[in-house]
Amino acid sequence: MVDNTFQDEGRTGTSRRRFMEATGGIGLSAALSGYLSDEPRREKRPSERVRALVGEMSLQEKIGQMTQVAAYEVDDDPKAFFERYQPGSLMYATTADPLQLAEDINELLDAAIEAQPHDVPFVFGIDAVHGNNNLDGATIFPHNHGVGATWNEEYARRMAEHTSKTLRATGTHWTFSPVADIQRDPRWGRFYEGFSEDPYLASRMVAEKVRGYERTENGYKSAGATVKHFAGYSEPRHGDDRTPALIPYRTFRHTHLPPFHAGISAGAETVMVNSGSVNGVPAHASEELLQTILRDTLGFEGMVVSDWHDFYRMVEVHEYVADVKDAVRLGIDAGIDMYMVPAAGIESDTVDTYQRHLRNLVESGEISMDRIDDAVTNVLAFKEALGLFENPYADPQRASEIVGGARELAYEIATDSMTLLKNDGTLPFDPKVGTVLVTGPSADDVANMMGGWTLGWQGVGETLPPAVTPLDGIKGIVSDSTEVVHEPTGLYTFDNEAAVRKAASDADAVVAVLGEGPYAEEHGDIDTLGLPDAQRELVRTLDSVGTPHAGVLFAGRPRGTRVFDRLPAAVMAYLPGTMGGAAVADVVFGNVSPSGRLPFTWPAGTGQLLNVHNLYPPELFGTGETPPTSTQEPTFPFGHGLSYTEFTYADLRVEPSTLPEASANERINVSVRVTNSGDRSGDHVIPVYAHRRHGAIASPMTEVLGVDRVSLDPGESTRVIVKASVNQLATVPGDVFSKSKLRVLPGDYAISVGEWDEEQTLTVR
Ligand code: BGC
Repeated sequence: MVDNTFQDEGRTGTSRRRFMEATGGIGLSAALSGYLSDEPRREKRPSERVRALVGEMSLQEKIGQMTQVAAYEVDDDPKAFFERYQPGSLMYATTADPLQLAEDINELLDAAIEAQPHDVPFVFGIDAVHGNNNLDGATIFPHNHGVGATWNEEYARRMAEHTSKTLRATGTHWTFSPVADIQRDPRWGRFYEGFSEDPYLASRMVAEKVRGYERTENGYKSAGATVKHFAGYSEPRHGDDRTPALIPYRTFRHTHLPPFHAGISAGAETVMVNSGSVNGVPAHASEELLQTILRDTLGFEGMVVSDWHDFYRMVEVHEYVADVKDAVRLGIDAGIDMYMVPAAGIESDTVDTYQRHLRNLVESGEISMDRIDDAVTNVLAFKEALGLFENPYADPQRASEIVGGARELAYEIATDSMTLLKNDGTLPFDPKVGTVLVTGPSADDVANMMGGWTLGWQGVGETLPPAVTPLDGIKGIVSDSTEVVHEPTGLYTFDNEAAVRKAASDADAVVAVLGEGPYAEEHGDIDTLGLPDAQRELVRTLDSVGTPHAGVLFAGRPRGTRVFDRLPAAVMAYLPGTMGGAAVADVVFGNVSPSGRLPFTWPAGTGQLLNVHNLYPPELFGTGETPPTSTQEPTFPFGHGLSYTEFTYADLRVEPSTLPEASANERINVSVRVTNSGDRSGDHVIPVYAHRRHGAIASPMTEVLGVDRVSLDPGESTRVIVKASVNQLATVPGDVFSKSKLRVLPGDYAISVGEWDEEQTLTVR
């Protein structure tokens, strides 16, 4: 919020644009109830309708409600399929054509409702994770790590609101999004699905994305959100997807859980379970995770869905139980309400075997009827919240009206995410430059700017989503007299070195668009953060030619290490989606001064993993005694992001500066005067950091306490006030294996802003 009361202190202008109220909480109610604190369990109150349905349903109907199958499993005779299995949920689009999808689902609904003795419709789920990314023509937004780089959670909400409208218009009711997994290890192929390595930043984003999806329409939630993957999924010990995680309770509670809690506090209807194991127990079998923590501590009252074939995984991957039947018993008992058993490809785990096992387990008394009723209640209550008992159908007309909209929003998000990593003054280029060479593997490649989960699990197939590539964007922005030369190279091949060398020598400026191809899940696991050799060679060539050159990276993680030594300027563009190339062009040619900040640490290599900003001291910095090859300084620290102008800070204040421990939930004001002391207008993100200096247990080196964003003209100055709740710094007190309740520890907290080394002290007593 802009504080107008500080004009007497030489404020020279007003902020042109504000993106959010500067607050340190997850939204008032969640902050006050303490999204990090231990909450009592709330009593679930099913409606009369749900209670009556559960009372009347047969065992087969109930088992049906607890089943989710892929729509492509429904064979040629849908009526017979629905009569037999009574699935409570379908998933996966039957087609990428929006209108056809709406019509297909409407037809399937007719068959399903006719076959269901109580006319209960299915709920249709889909992975719409950065826009409705399964549909032809849909606008693709940046993946979450790019949204995190804007530090502006309103973007998460607005993109989800648009997605929500497209979901319902095309017959789908539920998205398996947002990912609440905290970023820890960039080797992991799902890094880009998370918002940040900081629990505060990730929590705010998750909460708003949930609110966006679950916007109210006609008195009901227009779509259901899923916070996933509960929990501890993002820290596989050796970086590979769905491999064991070993996480101390303190880290788990303080770092991994907050984004889940924030999503739950924001109203998320469903939670999806982590496919991995945590400390030796598969999450799908863990009563501690799914009951004690999820229900009792975080107060989740919604529906718990499994991940893909995870009862089978308990047998074949985790070697935890001998057969799938036992896995079903453990999983349902632990708290899974609906099993995602989407494909028949695995003989021991089909919709048929699952339903048979579950029936046998209930009939033998190994699973109680109470547990079944509880699960079915959760499923039906979810459907009720979406208004499916009133109207589950889509109006196909709306599909064509909505899908493909919100491009301006996609542009804004992509632009605000652009993070200037390095600049010796090379950028911005002059739009009137004589000749610009646009090169690299991703200069004109739609798939590479979209990433995985875009019209295909592993990325774009034959049909391309709407996209402005960097080449398109640059052509659209440079002067009429500028010549744009395109010399593409491969992700892994560089067989046109001579042509690139010549084109670079003839050019006045070079933009090299580098990075990764699309991937998802385990297909994206890597064991080096270096760029592929071919791209390093390309950069070496450009460096040796010497024409001013800048690198732009499309990547799902901090990718590139020593390559920055040879790039005078570099921009991290994340996986920016449909409008990515326009955003890149605007930043590279100076229409926009970049304002993104890294929501994660950029490690110098795999050798220094896990290097995150919120580790315990000492900082992983080189001491000067270590040889340069083993320096532990990250390539770029958390929160890093340069600008074309300069922002200076003055007069940092913390009010009050002393707080009784019992009032840690109350807001403090952290304020600072920010001046644009450069010569261009620009946006600027101001993170507020905290670090407890000493205390009973060590404090993470830095934690984000709050954030604000300003937009200032040259010479303009404003006082920024961030209202922050200290509660989010609560940790698990006690000795090494303590499981004590979260508490804000008394002590002196150093409060700082941005890169400024000035600190003020907040004392908690
Ligand atoms: C992924 C989930 C996803 C599900 C359905 C699983 O493989 O782990 O994140 O929602 O598939 O596509």
